[in-house]
Amino acid sequence: MASSSPSSSSAASGAVVFAVNGERVELRGGDVDPGATLLEFLRTRTRFTGPKLGCGEGGCGACVVLLSTYDAASGAVSHAAASSCLTLVHGLHHRAVTTTEGLGSSGRVRGGGLHAVHARLAGFHASQCGFCTPGVCMSLAAALAAAESAAGRPEPPEGFSRLTAAEAERAVAGNLCRCTGYRPIADACKSFAADVDLEDLGLNSFWRKGDADASKLPRYNEGSIGAFPEFLKAEIRVSLGIDGCTPAALVRSESSWHRPRSVDEYYKLVGSELFGESRTKVVVGNTASGVYREAGVYDRYIDLRDIPELNSVNKDARGVEIGAAVSISRVIEILRGEGGGCKDVVSGKIADHMEKVASPFIRNTASLGGNLIMAQRDQFASDIATILLAAGSSICMQVSSERLAVTLEEFLEMPPCDYKTLLLSIHIPHWTPTGVLSGDRTLNRTGSTRGTYVLFETCRAAPRPLGNAVAYLNSAFSAQAALDETSGILILDKLCLAFGAYGTQHAIRAKNVEKFLVGKPITASVLLEACKVLKNTIVPKEGTRHAAYRSSLAVSFLFSFLYPVTRGTLKPVKAVHFNGCVTSGSNGNPNCEPDTHVDASLMEINSVKSSLYSNDRILESSKQIIEINKDYLPVGIPAKKVGAELQASGEAVFVDDIPSPKDCLYGAFIYSTKPLAHVKGIELDPSLKQLKTVAVVTVNDIPEGGSNVGANTVFGPEPLFGDPITQCAGEPLGVVIAETQRLANIAAKRAVINYSTENLDTPVLSIEEAVKRCSYFETLPFLLPQKIGDFSKGMAEADQKIYSAEVKLNSQYYFYMETQTALAIPDEDNCMVVYSSSQCPETAQNVIAKCLGIPCHNVRVITRRVGGGFGGKAVRSLPVATACALAAFKLHRPIRMYLERKTDIIMTGGRHPMKICYSVGFKSDGKITALHIDLFINAGMTKDVSPIIPHNFIEALKKYNWGAFSYDAKVCKTNISTKSAMRGPGEVQGSYVAEAIIEHVASALSTDANLVRQRNLHTVESLALFHSECAEDAIGYTLPSICDQLTASENYQHRLEMVQSFNGNNKWKKRGLSFVPIVHKVLSRPTPGKVSIFNDGSIAVEVGGIELGQGLWTKVKQMAAFGLGQLWADKSQDLFERIRVIQADTLSVVQGGWTTGSTTSESSCEAVRCACNILVDRLKPVKEQFEEKQGNISWDELISKAIMVGVDLSAREYYVPGPSGSYLNYGAAASEVEIDLLTGATTILRSDLLYDCGQSLNPAVDLGQVEGAFVQGIGYFMSEEYVTNSNGLVVSDGTWTYKIPTVDTIPKQFNVELFNSGFHKKRVLSSKASGEPPLLLAASVHCATREAIRAARKELHCSVSGSSPSHFDLKVPAIMPVVKELCGLDNVERYLESLLSSK
Ligand SMILES: Cc1cc2nc3c(=O)[nH]c(=O)nc-3n(C[C@H](O)[C@H](O)[C@H](O)COP(=O)(O)OP(=O)(O)OC[C@H]3O[C@@H](n4cnc5c(N)ncnc54)[C@H](O)[C@@H]3O)c2cc1C
Ligand code: FES
Ligand code: FES
Repeated sequence: MASSSPSSSSAASGAVVFAVNGERVELRGGDVDPGATLLEFLRTRTRFTGPKLGCGEGGCGACVVLLSTYDAASGAVSHAAASSCLTLVHGLHHRAVTTTEGLGSSGRVRGGGLHAVHARLAGFHASQCGFCTPGVCMSLAAALAAAESAAGRPEPPEGFSRLTAAEAERAVAGNLCRCTGYRPIADACKSFAADVDLEDLGLNSFWRKGDADASKLPRYNEGSIGAFPEFLKAEIRVSLGIDGCTPAALVRSESSWHRPRSVDEYYKLVGSELFGESRTKVVVGNTASGVYREAGVYDRYIDLRDIPELNSVNKDARGVEIGAAVSISRVIEILRGEGGGCKDVVSGKIADHMEKVASPFIRNTASLGGNLIMAQRDQFASDIATILLAAGSSICMQVSSERLAVTLEEFLEMPPCDYKTLLLSIHIPHWTPTGVLSGDRTLNRTGSTRGTYVLFETCRAAPRPLGNAVAYLNSAFSAQAALDETSGILILDKLCLAFGAYGTQHAIRAKNVEKFLVGKPITASVLLEACKVLKNTIVPKEGTRHAAYRSSLAVSFLFSFLYPVTRGTLKPVKAVHFNGCVTSGSNGNPNCEPDTHVDASLMEINSVKSSLYSNDRILESSKQIIEINKDYLPVGIPAKKVGAELQASGEAVFVDDIPSPKDCLYGAFIYSTKPLAHVKGIELDPSLKQLKTVAVVTVNDIPEGGSNVGANTVFGPEPLFGDPITQCAGEPLGVVIAETQRLANIAAKRAVINYSTENLDTPVLSIEEAVKRCSYFETLPFLLPQKIGDFSKGMAEADQKIYSAEVKLNSQYYFYMETQTALAIPDEDNCMVVYSSSQCPETAQNVIAKCLGIPCHNVRVITRRVGGGFGGKAVRSLPVATACALAAFKLHRPIRMYLERKTDIIMTGGRHPMKICYSVGFKSDGKITALHIDLFINAGMTKDVSPIIPHNFIEALKKYNWGAFSYDAKVCKTNISTKSAMRGPGEVQGSYVAEAIIEHVASALSTDANLVRQRNLHTVESLALFHSECAEDAIGYTLPSICDQLTASENYQHRLEMVQSFNGNNKWKKRGLSFVPIVHKVLSRPTPGKVSIFNDGSIAVEVGGIELGQGLWTKVKQMAAFGLGQLWADKSQDLFERIRVIQADTLSVVQGGWTTGSTTSESSCEAVRCACNILVDRLKPVKEQFEEKQGNISWDELISKAIMVGVDLSAREYYVPGPSGSYLNYGAAASEVEIDLLTGATTILRSDLLYDCGQSLNPAVDLGQVEGAFVQGIGYFMSEEYVTNSNGLVVSDGTWTYKIPTVDTIPKQFNVELFNSGFHKKRVLSSKASGEPPLLLAASVHCATREAIRAARKELHCSVSGSSPSHFDLKVPAIMPVVKELCGLDNVERYLESLLSSK
């Protein structure tokens, strides 16, 4: 830490004093760069590396810490979660920071023990790779602490907290986790809520189902989180002159961080010479740096938070005036206070909407004023500007010496303000039930007006219901309306229709629509006209994505606001207010009684405005059904994941947590932004010296004897750097080396690359272009599955035929939470040690050696744990490790690289985009007789493992009996970033395309797709024909039973009927239920295992497989205990405690292989079991000899004896599966969804998964794999839009634009059963793989969405671009614009027209 001892003059010196986990930190000018974030400070200047860098833009929550503030006057301490990646460390004066380490630790190292938050997260199996876990812990801890310090909450029962279950789920709504699927995280959080039914919580290590008991949970004690250090309290009191001390005068800081105490002081500061030349940044919460990831370096910062005026809150009869520096979370609290007892419905609704802005850990530090400045100056897609515009807000600002009061509308329309403008406060007028519009601009409460009512509503459509996603469009409407007593129709008087975020400069009022509507009775025809005018008004700027969708949303929102009025069905509540559109039962205020006067039939329209209200639960209860197999104990028990507690408490060490060695430097890739060009040169920014940039490493730095190689697979090597020609946008061209990672990143971003396209052909950027130019990689015949029967003959047997139908699928990015990273340390005699986050350290070793021109034995690659891989850290990790090693080799200094999320997305590629054309023939009863597939795979620039993808695709597609089956596959070479294997590579596409064909056939026959599915499921005989190499007997082929269990049940039929009945009764919501089976082939590969027993009896196990979060270590540990337990069957549990699985080290265990393809856990287990057998064989005679002479022997005695008699206590085995290494996995899922026809939003109501795991090696781990894979699949099918620009450069390059699932987008009911298919001699202890196949099941959500859309289209007689109501192309991912488009972007207008024409 910079300084830890209190200094008498610190308070007066302008030093920054704060606490980290109770320890004092004092920063003085120059100690730490003023632009350093808290995260950077913690990770590089303290030992607390618990907070992780997942995105650096406020969008993932991996970096969340608890910030505590002490109010010396009241003695109160308040707590809030904050993103440490955006919080600047110099802004922490007098705050206390708690990281996950501050909650507690595993106890062995530092004492103290784990906190209940850690222990419950681990015990609910809520941690897999563990990279997100510290952030999740702190989001939860902050919510617990905040609930505890909030006034008026009832005392909870012992062991529980003051959080409600709904709040507990929401606490982690902004945290991304790519592994778990969130359900167990939500359960762990809810276990703290006093209102939870513990029996509703999922599988855990505390109790068995039916035996839930709070006393079995690790105890939670109030007051155990965020204790504010006494020394800091004392220093704060001294600085304020409390306790009789004289307040220390604040000496004007000479440092680069300034904290003006008044508006005047601010202007003096910015007017001073000091600021004339310098680059100055004005900040409050600094969250804008997450929005605009500028590559800026600033000399000085001005922190506005010490200006009292900017923090004040003044209420009067007119409304509430809130200082611009007040945080959004505090604004919500203030507005909720205004709405207390339902006095001010509008405030409650604004608060509701604000709860969907960003996530809790952003709202806690983000200021109201900062948001409005961004909206005004930077064209930010603000929600707050829109809702406050409609609420008639005004602002007070200072421009140099002039103070101005203007309406928000005027403010937004001013020229963009600069640092001379200080936003002081925002005034939000009261909208009490009797409030009326009193002037053109401001809203005042002037008393009651008979028959006059206020309408107010806010809406937003965004990829995630709970925020953490910027809206496609937001809107807010306010109106004054008079009721025409005779007709019962409302006539609008004053009206404000505000829209924002749709690709506009700033939020605007649709004045022409307002003008059109005012004074008119609101009838269907008036509303229709208004919609037409509106559609021409809300026109996004050119280039805005989904422009037509956004315009159509505006119409939907206006319709949902005014349509209830046209029907005259809403009656003013208690004759005091017309709360036109609230039907949530909360009036926008959770404290308020349900509004029983609202017509229930309008519920479905009204819910468009906010799919989740603040007191709604996100998830309903879920089921996990497992069977524990006791044949091979402790294998088979649902043991807690090895290291889960360490992950939660932040003690687990990932590559970037290893302390930087002395003289360490940092690297960042410079990558190409052009798809095909000569690289003429790379120029660094001239100010690089100031950036402490040390070097640029390029292809010219590859040593003699080395070669330009950055990756290698069985299909060949690929270059490290694009030279002399770059082949794709995103290809690495060099590495900038600097003294910190941040400076290296900035330097890389600012580098200018000179390109030339002279004499070069145009790049190949699409499959179509590749086909035209025959740009293919070779497909190896021996890798291609067999064709079945005679396609022409099969077609001839068909009653109906479909020819040349087409499906297109885009890419998916891995989004592991830990980006690619490596640390290379040069060693003596041309050796290199590289810590790499890799799924294949052995290949990394080979590639590094080849690049540096040194032998493999000079390169030691070490991998302990990987923060999520999903295939992306196999081949794609190699260039990072290699570049790092090359830089270290050149500079003879340790080099560390941790890729920025944007660079990672751009460079790493992802799943293969594909185009599939099919022709299919079928009988009238749905039996398919022939199928031909033309498969085109976009492999990108290099081969990677792409030649294997056709095999995977076809194998998964063969889950049905297609009759005769033929195909042709092409692997296209294009100028886009290389695509690599991603969880279920090729298989997810193949399995999905099979469903698309089934559904096409069903729609052609006008029959139920599930009947066609059943009709074409394999028999044992046809399975043997299609999958001859893994033929199965009737017992092994469990798919028919799985399907029966899922679909033949009464429940399923009943649910189908319910769906139909729902669809018949609802106009704007439709449901769909679909069922999808899978057959997924996996292949085991040779894997080493080594077991060593030490003289104290402890055991170390090394395996080829890498722990990626998939629970490999846990299964291996169980297996080692089982294997050695053969000596004492009843003591294997004791042995379990003695075993440690250790990191992979390429110089310790050779031929480590690749951790891919779902089978590495079982292969590693088998290798370990065989190694244990060797040891058992060696130890058995010693044991028997001893027992013969002296009776029982303990493990310790046995090992001592064995050492004495010279037994080799280390054994290695290389498990080679042989021809039986491949087998089929089976599973099925039924999903039910609900779509909203007004917005295109899809809610997954329920998913039931049944997955054959054989005799699971660890059902808790396998269940986690099934759920996690399914949710990753939901991301692929429903939300992850992978967008590239015209150069093929990925532009959905961060958390802002690339939307993986969050806790609010998973199935509300999520039921998983592991089907135990029993004994199987060919598999490892009869187990089956679980890592990848369940991802394929997520197609059920997409298919159910298609069903729902079909129901909508049939009713609305929709046909888009010539497609029929029942057959249409539902793109993957089925994001909101896609769904809405298929339901008709003009569905509102058409509906109104139909109403009018039916009159
Ligand atoms: C991950 C994430 C998600 C988000 N999602 C949403 C969303 O869904 N909807 C939405 O509306 N917003 C969203 N935001 C925006 C967020 O509300 C703003 O970033 C935040 O309110 C800015 O406040 P701040 O205090 O952090 O400003 P800062 O970052 O400190 O400052 C922002 C800018 O405003 C200037 N500034 C700040 N205060 C003043 C003042 N009083 N006078 C003059 N200039 C000033 C600063 O100089 C700076 O240029 C999101 C932000 C993040 C990081
Ligand atoms: S790293 Fe801070 S929110 Fe992602
Ligand atoms: S456990 Fe959450 S990201 Fe891996």
